[in-house]
Amino acid sequence: MSLSTDSAAPGGDVFRVVGGARLVGEVRVPAAKNSVLKLMAAALLAPGRTTLTGAPDIDDLDVMASLLTSLGCEVTRDRDAATVAIDVPEEIGHRADYDLVRRIRASTAVLGPLVARTGSADLALPGGDAIGSRGIDMHIDALTALGAQCSSDHGYLHAHAPEGLRGARIAFDFPSVGATENAVLAAVLARGVTTVTNAAREPEIADLCQMLVSMGAQIDGIGSATLTIRGVERLSPTVHATVPDRIVAGTWAVAALMTRGDITIRNADATHLSLVLTKLSSAGADITVLEDGFRVVGRGQPTAVEVVTLPYPGFPTDLQPMMIALNSVSDGAAMVTENIYESRFRFVNELTRLGADIRTDGHHAFVRGQTRLSAAPVEATDIRAGAGLVLAGLVADGVTHVYGAHHIDRGYAGFAEILQSLGADVTRVSEVAP
Ligand code: UD1
Repeated sequence: MSLSTDSAAPGGDVFRVVGGARLVGEVRVPAAKNSVLKLMAAALLAPGRTTLTGAPDIDDLDVMASLLTSLGCEVTRDRDAATVAIDVPEEIGHRADYDLVRRIRASTAVLGPLVARTGSADLALPGGDAIGSRGIDMHIDALTALGAQCSSDHGYLHAHAPEGLRGARIAFDFPSVGATENAVLAAVLARGVTTVTNAAREPEIADLCQMLVSMGAQIDGIGSATLTIRGVERLSPTVHATVPDRIVAGTWAVAALMTRGDITIRNADATHLSLVLTKLSSAGADITVLEDGFRVVGRGQPTAVEVVTLPYPGFPTDLQPMMIALNSVSDGAAMVTENIYESRFRFVNELTRLGADIRTDGHHAFVRGQTRLSAAPVEATDIRAGAGLVLAGLVADGVTHVYGAHHIDRGYAGFAEILQSLGADVTRVSEVAP
Protein backbone atom coordinates (compact mmCIF):
# COMPACT_ATOMS: atom_id res chain seq x y z
CA MET A 1 0.00 0.00 0.00
CA SER A 2 1.26 3.45 -0.77
CA LEU A 3 1.07 6.11 1.92
CA SER A 4 0.95 9.81 1.18
CA THR A 5 3.53 11.56 3.35
CA ASP A 6 1.18 14.50 3.30
CA SER A 7 -1.80 12.73 4.74
CA ALA A 8 -1.34 14.26 8.17
CA ALA A 9 -0.98 17.82 6.91
CA PRO A 10 -3.90 20.19 7.41
CA GLY A 11 -5.91 20.44 4.20
CA GLY A 12 -8.82 22.50 3.05
CA ASP A 13 -7.23 25.49 1.35
CA VAL A 14 -7.40 26.08 -2.38
CA PHE A 15 -5.37 28.28 -4.72
CA ARG A 16 -7.75 30.38 -6.84
CA VAL A 17 -5.85 31.21 -10.01
CA VAL A 18 -7.16 33.69 -12.55
CA GLY A 19 -5.59 32.95 -15.92
CA GLY A 20 -4.11 35.49 -18.28
CA ALA A 21 -1.56 37.51 -16.33
CA ARG A 22 1.93 38.13 -17.61
CA LEU A 23 4.31 37.69 -14.65
CA VAL A 24 6.72 40.59 -14.33
CA GLY A 25 9.05 41.53 -11.47
CA GLU A 26 11.65 40.17 -9.11
CA VAL A 27 11.70 37.20 -6.73
CA ARG A 28 14.23 36.13 -4.11
CA VAL A 29 14.83 32.42 -3.78
CA PRO A 30 14.97 30.96 -0.25
CA ALA A 31 17.33 28.23 0.97
CA ALA A 32 16.69 24.76 -0.42
CA LYS A 33 14.11 22.66 1.40
CA ASN A 34 15.88 19.55 0.11
CA SER A 35 19.07 20.71 1.79
CA VAL A 36 18.06 22.39 5.03
CA LEU A 37 16.17 19.38 6.39
CA LYS A 38 19.26 17.19 5.91
CA LEU A 39 21.50 19.85 7.43
CA MET A 40 19.27 19.87 10.51
CA ALA A 41 19.85 16.11 10.78
CA ALA A 42 23.60 16.67 10.33
CA ALA A 43 23.62 18.97 13.37
CA LEU A 44 23.09 15.82 15.49
CA LEU A 45 26.72 14.88 14.79
CA ALA A 46 28.17 17.56 17.11
CA PRO A 47 27.16 18.46 20.66
CA GLY A 48 26.58 22.21 21.03
CA ARG A 49 24.66 24.83 19.03
CA THR A 50 24.57 24.62 15.23
CA THR A 51 22.82 27.47 13.40
CA LEU A 52 21.47 27.33 9.85
CA THR A 53 20.79 30.64 8.15
CA GLY A 54 18.44 31.43 5.27
CA ALA A 55 15.95 28.74 6.35
CA PRO A 56 12.81 28.64 4.16
CA ASP A 57 9.49 29.46 5.85
CA ILE A 58 7.88 26.05 5.38
CA ASP A 59 6.22 23.73 7.89
CA ASP A 60 8.44 20.70 7.13
CA LEU A 61 11.12 22.40 9.24
CA ASP A 62 8.80 22.16 12.25
CA VAL A 63 8.39 18.43 11.66
CA MET A 64 12.17 17.95 11.53
CA ALA A 65 12.46 20.19 14.63
CA SER A 66 9.98 17.90 16.45
CA LEU A 67 12.03 14.87 15.47
CA LEU A 68 15.25 16.46 16.76
CA THR A 69 13.44 17.54 19.94
CA SER A 70 12.27 13.94 20.46
CA LEU A 71 15.96 12.95 20.28
CA GLY A 72 16.84 15.39 23.08
CA CYS A 73 17.78 18.54 21.12
CA GLU A 74 16.40 22.00 21.66
CA VAL A 75 15.42 23.69 18.38
CA THR A 76 14.83 27.43 18.12
CA ARG A 77 13.34 28.68 14.90
CA ASP A 78 13.24 32.39 14.12
CA ARG A 79 10.97 32.74 11.08
CA ASP A 80 11.67 36.50 10.72
CA ALA A 81 15.43 36.07 10.75
CA ALA A 82 15.13 32.86 8.68
CA THR A 83 17.36 30.92 11.07
CA VAL A 84 17.15 27.59 12.87
CA ALA A 85 19.37 26.95 15.88
CA ILE A 86 19.79 23.38 17.09
CA ASP A 87 21.22 22.75 20.56
CA VAL A 88 22.49 19.20 20.64
CA PRO A 89 23.23 17.57 24.02
CA GLU A 90 26.13 15.18 24.69
CA GLU A 91 23.68 12.28 25.05
CA ILE A 92 21.03 11.93 22.35
CA GLY A 93 18.22 9.43 21.81
CA HIS A 94 18.21 6.94 18.96
CA ARG A 95 14.57 6.39 18.00
CA ALA A 96 12.76 8.16 15.14
CA ASP A 97 9.04 7.51 15.52
CA TYR A 98 6.63 6.67 12.73
CA ASP A 99 4.44 9.68 13.58
CA LEU A 100 7.18 12.05 12.41
CA VAL A 101 8.94 9.93 9.79
CA ARG A 102 5.70 9.40 7.85
CA ARG A 103 5.25 13.18 7.53
CA ILE A 104 8.60 14.06 5.98
CA ARG A 105 10.74 11.78 3.93
CA ALA A 106 13.87 13.74 4.84
CA SER A 107 13.64 12.38 8.39
CA THR A 108 15.47 9.26 7.16
CA ALA A 109 18.61 11.44 7.18
CA VAL A 110 18.87 10.99 10.97
CA LEU A 111 19.85 7.34 10.42
CA GLY A 112 23.54 8.00 9.68
CA PRO A 113 24.04 10.56 12.48
CA LEU A 114 22.27 8.40 15.09
CA VAL A 115 24.34 5.30 14.38
CA ALA A 116 27.54 7.38 14.19
CA ARG A 117 26.86 9.20 17.48
CA THR A 118 25.10 6.56 19.60
CA GLY A 119 25.98 3.26 17.92
CA SER A 120 22.30 2.56 17.45
CA ALA A 121 19.20 3.74 15.56
CA ASP A 122 15.56 2.67 15.47
CA LEU A 123 14.04 4.35 12.45
CA ALA A 124 10.43 3.96 11.38
CA LEU A 125 10.41 2.67 7.81
CA PRO A 126 9.07 5.52 5.67
CA GLY A 127 7.04 3.50 3.15
CA GLY A 128 6.19 4.97 -0.26
CA ASP A 129 4.42 8.21 -1.00
CA ALA A 130 2.44 10.03 -3.66
CA ILE A 131 5.30 10.10 -6.18
CA GLY A 132 6.60 6.54 -5.86
CA SER A 133 7.92 3.67 -3.79
CA ARG A 134 11.05 5.37 -2.38
CA GLY A 135 13.01 2.42 -0.98
CA ILE A 136 15.84 2.69 1.58
CA ASP A 137 17.73 -0.51 0.73
CA MET A 138 20.78 1.46 -0.41
CA HIS A 139 20.83 3.42 2.87
CA ILE A 140 20.85 0.08 4.70
CA ASP A 141 23.60 -1.35 2.45
CA ALA A 142 25.78 1.69 3.15
CA LEU A 143 25.34 1.41 6.92
CA THR A 144 26.00 -2.34 6.73
CA ALA A 145 29.22 -1.75 4.78
CA LEU A 146 30.30 0.63 7.56
CA GLY A 147 29.85 -2.17 10.09
CA ALA A 148 26.30 -1.69 11.39
CA GLN A 149 24.04 -4.70 11.86
CA CYS A 150 20.67 -3.90 10.34
CA SER A 151 17.37 -5.69 10.78
CA SER A 152 13.74 -4.71 10.71
CA ASP A 153 10.55 -5.64 12.51
CA HIS A 154 7.16 -4.09 13.21
CA GLY A 155 7.78 -1.32 10.67
CA TYR A 156 11.10 -0.21 12.17
CA LEU A 157 14.66 -0.48 10.92
CA HIS A 158 17.16 -1.28 13.68
CA ALA A 159 20.82 -0.47 13.09
CA HIS A 160 23.46 -1.35 15.69
CA ALA A 161 27.18 -0.73 15.76
CA PRO A 162 28.12 -1.11 19.43
CA GLU A 163 31.86 -1.07 18.63
CA GLY A 164 31.48 1.98 16.40
CA LEU A 165 31.56 2.29 12.60
CA ARG A 166 34.63 1.65 10.46
CA GLY A 167 35.61 3.06 7.08
CA ALA A 168 34.59 1.02 4.04
CA ARG A 169 34.26 1.07 0.27
CA ILE A 170 30.70 1.87 -0.69
CA ALA A 171 29.74 1.53 -4.36
CA PHE A 172 26.19 2.53 -5.23
CA ASP A 173 24.34 0.93 -8.16
CA PHE A 174 22.46 4.21 -8.55
CA PRO A 175 23.48 7.69 -7.30
CA SER A 176 20.74 7.96 -4.68
CA VAL A 177 20.62 11.34 -2.96
CA GLY A 178 19.29 10.01 0.33
CA ALA A 179 21.66 7.03 0.50
CA THR A 180 24.70 9.18 -0.33
CA GLU A 181 23.70 11.57 2.45
CA ASN A 182 23.35 8.79 5.02
CA ALA A 183 26.63 7.20 3.93
CA VAL A 184 28.49 10.50 4.37
CA LEU A 185 26.71 11.36 7.62
CA ALA A 186 27.77 8.02 9.10
CA ALA A 187 31.30 7.88 7.62
CA VAL A 188 32.46 11.25 8.98
CA LEU A 189 32.68 9.75 12.49
CA ALA A 190 33.75 6.23 11.44
CA ARG A 191 37.26 4.89 12.15
CA GLY A 192 39.36 5.03 8.98
CA VAL A 193 38.73 5.95 5.38
CA THR A 194 35.48 5.54 3.45
CA THR A 195 35.15 5.89 -0.30
CA VAL A 196 31.73 6.34 -1.85
CA THR A 197 31.65 5.71 -5.59
CA ASN A 198 28.72 6.58 -7.88
CA ALA A 199 27.78 9.10 -5.20
CA ALA A 200 24.97 11.56 -5.95
CA ARG A 201 26.32 14.93 -7.11
CA GLU A 202 23.31 17.15 -6.39
CA PRO A 203 24.22 20.66 -5.13
CA GLU A 204 22.44 19.76 -1.88
CA ILE A 205 25.00 16.95 -1.31
CA ALA A 206 27.86 19.40 -1.85
CA ASP A 207 26.12 21.77 0.60
CA LEU A 208 25.93 19.00 3.21
CA CYS A 209 29.60 18.08 2.70
CA GLN A 210 30.66 21.72 2.99
CA MET A 211 28.77 22.07 6.26
CA LEU A 212 30.37 18.88 7.57
CA VAL A 213 33.82 20.19 6.60
CA SER A 214 33.08 23.37 8.56
CA MET A 215 32.30 21.07 11.52
CA GLY A 216 35.73 19.45 11.19
CA ALA A 217 34.99 16.54 8.83
CA GLN A 218 37.58 15.50 6.24
CA ILE A 219 35.93 14.99 2.85
CA ASP A 220 37.62 15.01 -0.57
CA GLY A 221 35.90 15.04 -3.94
CA ILE A 222 32.99 17.26 -2.91
CA GLY A 223 30.69 17.76 -5.92
CA SER A 224 32.08 14.69 -7.71
CA ALA A 225 30.86 11.09 -7.99
CA THR A 226 33.66 9.80 -5.73
CA LEU A 227 33.79 10.99 -2.15
CA THR A 228 36.68 10.11 0.15
CA ILE A 229 35.97 10.57 3.83
CA ARG A 230 38.57 10.29 6.58
CA GLY A 231 36.71 9.68 9.81
CA VAL A 232 37.42 11.98 12.76
CA GLU A 233 36.81 11.40 16.50
CA ARG A 234 34.57 14.38 17.07
CA LEU A 235 32.90 17.20 15.17
CA SER A 236 32.15 20.73 16.36
CA PRO A 237 28.96 22.76 15.90
CA THR A 238 28.90 25.37 13.15
CA VAL A 239 27.04 28.25 11.52
CA HIS A 240 26.10 27.47 7.92
CA ALA A 241 24.28 29.31 5.12
CA THR A 242 22.15 26.81 3.18
CA VAL A 243 22.37 26.59 -0.63
CA PRO A 244 19.55 28.39 -2.55
CA ASP A 245 16.61 26.29 -3.73
CA ARG A 246 17.26 25.44 -7.39
CA ILE A 247 13.80 23.90 -7.77
CA VAL A 248 12.04 27.07 -6.61
CA ALA A 249 14.31 29.11 -8.91
CA GLY A 250 13.52 26.77 -11.82
CA THR A 251 9.79 27.02 -11.11
CA TRP A 252 9.94 30.82 -11.47
CA ALA A 253 11.97 30.47 -14.65
CA VAL A 254 9.30 28.23 -16.22
CA ALA A 255 6.58 30.60 -14.99
CA ALA A 256 8.25 33.53 -16.75
CA LEU A 257 8.40 31.65 -20.06
CA MET A 258 4.88 30.21 -19.84
CA THR A 259 3.24 33.56 -19.07
CA ARG A 260 5.42 35.38 -21.63
CA GLY A 261 6.63 37.43 -18.69
CA ASP A 262 9.88 38.87 -17.38
CA ILE A 263 11.15 37.64 -14.00
CA THR A 264 14.45 38.42 -12.35
CA ILE A 265 15.32 35.57 -10.01
CA ARG A 266 17.74 36.61 -7.24
CA ASN A 267 19.73 34.45 -4.80
CA ALA A 268 19.88 31.68 -7.38
CA ASP A 269 22.85 29.81 -8.81
CA ALA A 270 22.53 29.43 -12.59
CA THR A 271 25.22 26.74 -12.61
CA HIS A 272 22.91 24.50 -10.55
CA LEU A 273 20.29 24.84 -13.30
CA SER A 274 22.55 24.58 -16.28
CA LEU A 275 20.54 21.95 -18.19
CA VAL A 276 17.20 23.45 -17.14
CA LEU A 277 18.17 26.89 -18.45
CA THR A 278 19.49 25.34 -21.68
CA LYS A 279 16.11 23.62 -22.19
CA LEU A 280 14.18 26.79 -21.43
CA SER A 281 16.37 28.66 -23.84
CA SER A 282 15.57 26.06 -26.56
CA ALA A 283 11.91 26.55 -25.68
CA GLY A 284 12.26 30.25 -26.49
CA ALA A 285 13.27 31.92 -23.22
CA ASP A 286 15.63 34.83 -23.28
CA ILE A 287 17.97 34.22 -20.31
CA THR A 288 20.54 36.58 -18.84
CA VAL A 289 22.79 35.31 -16.07
CA LEU A 290 23.35 37.92 -13.34
CA GLU A 291 25.82 38.03 -10.46
CA ASP A 292 23.27 36.77 -7.92
CA GLY A 293 20.80 34.96 -10.17
CA PHE A 294 19.30 35.24 -13.63
CA ARG A 295 16.55 36.94 -15.62
CA VAL A 296 14.09 35.03 -17.79
CA VAL A 297 11.99 36.73 -20.45
CA GLY A 298 9.36 34.91 -22.50
CA ARG A 299 8.19 36.28 -25.84
CA GLY A 300 5.42 34.61 -27.82
CA GLN A 301 4.36 30.97 -27.70
CA PRO A 302 7.13 28.66 -26.37
CA THR A 303 8.38 25.69 -28.40
CA ALA A 304 7.88 22.16 -27.02
CA VAL A 305 11.09 20.56 -25.67
CA GLU A 306 12.06 16.96 -24.88
CA VAL A 307 12.87 16.29 -21.22
CA VAL A 308 14.50 13.24 -19.61
CA THR A 309 14.80 13.26 -15.82
CA LEU A 310 18.07 11.90 -14.43
CA PRO A 311 20.27 12.32 -11.36
CA TYR A 312 22.17 15.64 -11.27
CA PRO A 313 23.56 17.10 -13.50
CA GLY A 314 20.65 15.59 -15.47
CA PHE A 315 17.23 17.20 -15.58
CA PRO A 316 15.70 17.29 -12.06
CA THR A 317 12.62 15.14 -11.49
CA ASP A 318 11.24 17.91 -9.26
CA LEU A 319 10.88 20.21 -12.29
CA GLN A 320 9.27 17.59 -14.53
CA PRO A 321 5.64 18.65 -13.77
CA MET A 322 6.44 22.26 -14.65
CA MET A 323 7.94 21.14 -17.99
CA ILE A 324 4.86 19.08 -18.82
CA ALA A 325 2.74 22.16 -18.04
CA LEU A 326 5.05 24.25 -20.25
CA ASN A 327 4.91 21.78 -23.15
CA SER A 328 1.14 21.62 -22.89
CA VAL A 329 0.92 25.26 -24.07
CA SER A 330 3.88 25.15 -26.49
CA ASP A 331 4.13 24.97 -30.24
CA GLY A 332 4.69 21.37 -31.34
CA ALA A 333 4.88 18.11 -29.42
CA ALA A 334 7.53 16.55 -27.18
CA MET A 335 8.24 13.49 -25.07
CA VAL A 336 8.90 13.82 -21.34
CA THR A 337 10.59 10.78 -19.77
CA GLU A 338 10.55 10.27 -16.00
CA ASN A 339 13.32 8.00 -14.77
CA ILE A 340 13.32 8.65 -11.02
CA TYR A 341 9.77 8.24 -9.63
CA GLU A 342 7.21 5.88 -11.16
CA SER A 343 4.09 7.69 -9.93
CA ARG A 344 5.09 11.19 -10.95
CA PHE A 345 2.68 11.24 -13.91
CA ARG A 346 -0.34 10.95 -11.61
CA PHE A 347 -0.95 14.67 -11.92
CA VAL A 348 -1.18 14.41 -15.73
CA ASN A 349 -4.86 13.44 -15.42
CA GLU A 350 -5.46 16.74 -13.61
CA LEU A 351 -3.66 18.66 -16.33
CA THR A 352 -5.82 17.03 -18.99
CA ARG A 353 -8.86 18.40 -17.09
CA LEU A 354 -7.49 21.82 -18.11
CA GLY A 355 -7.51 20.72 -21.74
CA ALA A 356 -3.89 19.55 -22.04
CA ASP A 357 -3.27 16.83 -24.64
CA ILE A 358 -1.01 14.26 -22.95
CA ARG A 359 -0.66 10.50 -23.47
CA THR A 360 1.33 8.53 -20.94
CA ASP A 361 2.87 5.12 -21.51
CA GLY A 362 4.96 3.78 -18.63
CA HIS A 363 7.57 6.39 -17.83
CA HIS A 364 6.96 8.41 -21.00
CA ALA A 365 4.49 11.26 -21.45
CA PHE A 366 3.86 12.53 -24.95
CA VAL A 367 2.64 16.12 -24.82
CA ARG A 368 1.03 17.93 -27.76
CA GLY A 369 0.99 21.67 -27.21
CA GLN A 370 -2.26 23.65 -27.33
CA THR A 371 -2.76 27.31 -27.97
CA ARG A 372 -4.89 27.60 -24.83
CA LEU A 373 -5.92 25.73 -21.71
CA SER A 374 -9.33 26.02 -20.14
CA ALA A 375 -9.83 26.62 -16.40
CA ALA A 376 -11.26 23.86 -14.20
CA PRO A 377 -11.03 22.65 -10.62
CA VAL A 378 -7.99 20.36 -10.18
CA GLU A 379 -6.29 18.52 -7.31
CA ALA A 380 -2.62 18.82 -6.30
CA THR A 381 -1.26 15.38 -5.36
CA ASP A 382 2.21 16.48 -4.26
CA ILE A 383 4.33 19.63 -3.95
CA ARG A 384 5.70 19.85 -7.48
CA ALA A 385 2.56 18.59 -9.23
CA GLY A 386 0.72 21.34 -7.34
CA ALA A 387 3.14 24.02 -8.54
CA GLY A 388 2.81 22.71 -12.12
CA LEU A 389 -0.99 22.95 -11.90
CA VAL A 390 -0.84 26.54 -10.62
CA LEU A 391 1.42 27.46 -13.56
CA ALA A 392 -1.06 25.80 -15.93
CA GLY A 393 -3.89 27.76 -14.28
CA LEU A 394 -2.00 30.99 -14.98
CA VAL A 395 -2.26 30.34 -18.72
CA ALA A 396 -5.80 28.91 -18.76
CA ASP A 397 -8.90 30.85 -19.78
CA GLY A 398 -10.97 31.55 -16.66
CA VAL A 399 -10.55 30.70 -12.98
CA THR A 400 -8.77 27.49 -11.94
CA HIS A 401 -9.13 26.18 -8.39
CA VAL A 402 -6.15 24.07 -7.33
CA TYR A 403 -7.21 21.93 -4.35
CA GLY A 404 -4.69 20.59 -1.85
CA ALA A 405 -2.90 23.92 -1.32
CA HIS A 406 -1.08 22.45 1.70
CA HIS A 407 0.99 20.29 -0.65
CA ILE A 408 2.28 23.40 -2.44
CA ASP A 409 3.00 25.17 0.87
CA ARG A 410 5.50 22.41 1.70
CA GLY A 411 7.83 23.60 -1.06
CA TYR A 412 6.90 27.21 -1.75
CA ALA A 413 6.61 29.68 1.15
CA GLY A 414 4.14 32.50 0.40
CA PHE A 415 3.42 31.21 -3.13
CA ALA A 416 0.21 33.21 -3.64
CA GLU A 417 1.76 36.41 -2.25
CA ILE A 418 4.78 36.13 -4.53
CA LEU A 419 2.57 35.46 -7.56
CA GLN A 420 0.52 38.55 -6.66
CA SER A 421 3.68 40.64 -6.40
CA LEU A 422 4.45 39.53 -9.98
CA GLY A 423 1.04 40.71 -11.17
CA ALA A 424 -0.98 37.48 -11.07
CA ASP A 425 -4.45 37.27 -9.58
CA VAL A 426 -3.87 34.29 -7.28
CA THR A 427 -5.45 34.01 -3.86
CA ARG A 428 -5.74 31.37 -1.22
CA VAL A 429 -9.31 30.60 -0.32
CA SER A 430 -10.99 28.10 1.98
CA GLU A 431 -12.23 24.98 0.25
CA VAL A 432 -15.01 25.84 -2.18
CA ALA A 433 -18.19 23.99 -1.20
CA PRO A 434 -19.21 21.35 -3.77
C1 UD1 B 1 15.08 12.58 -4.93
C2 UD1 B 1 15.85 13.20 -6.06
C3 UD1 B 1 16.41 14.50 -5.58
C4 UD1 B 1 15.27 15.37 -5.07
C5 UD1 B 1 14.47 14.63 -4.01
C6 UD1 B 1 13.26 15.41 -3.55
C7 UD1 B 1 17.13 12.12 -7.80
C8 UD1 B 1 18.18 11.11 -8.12
N1 UD1 B 1 16.88 12.30 -6.50
O1 UD1 B 1 15.97 12.36 -3.85
O2 UD1 B 1 17.12 15.16 -6.61
O3 UD1 B 1 15.77 16.56 -4.55
O4 UD1 B 1 14.03 13.40 -4.53
O5 UD1 B 1 12.20 15.31 -4.42
O6 UD1 B 1 16.57 12.73 -8.67
N2 UD1 B 1 15.87 4.31 -4.21
C9 UD1 B 1 15.81 2.98 -3.86
N3 UD1 B 1 16.48 2.58 -2.74
C10 UD1 B 1 17.18 3.42 -1.95
C11 UD1 B 1 17.24 4.78 -2.31
C12 UD1 B 1 16.57 5.20 -3.45
O7 UD1 B 1 15.18 2.19 -4.54
O8 UD1 B 1 17.76 2.98 -0.94
C13 UD1 B 1 15.18 4.77 -5.42
C14 UD1 B 1 13.97 5.64 -5.07
O9 UD1 B 1 12.82 4.88 -4.82
C15 UD1 B 1 13.88 6.48 -6.33
C16 UD1 B 1 15.32 6.71 -6.72
O10 UD1 B 1 16.02 5.61 -6.17
O11 UD1 B 1 13.24 5.79 -7.36
C17 UD1 B 1 15.87 8.06 -6.26
O12 UD1 B 1 16.18 7.98 -4.95
P1 UD1 B 1 16.93 9.13 -4.12
O13 UD1 B 1 17.83 9.94 -4.97
O14 UD1 B 1 17.50 8.50 -2.91
O15 UD1 B 1 15.69 9.97 -3.66
P2 UD1 B 1 15.65 11.21 -2.78
O16 UD1 B 1 16.77 11.25 -1.81
O17 UD1 B 1 14.26 11.33 -2.29
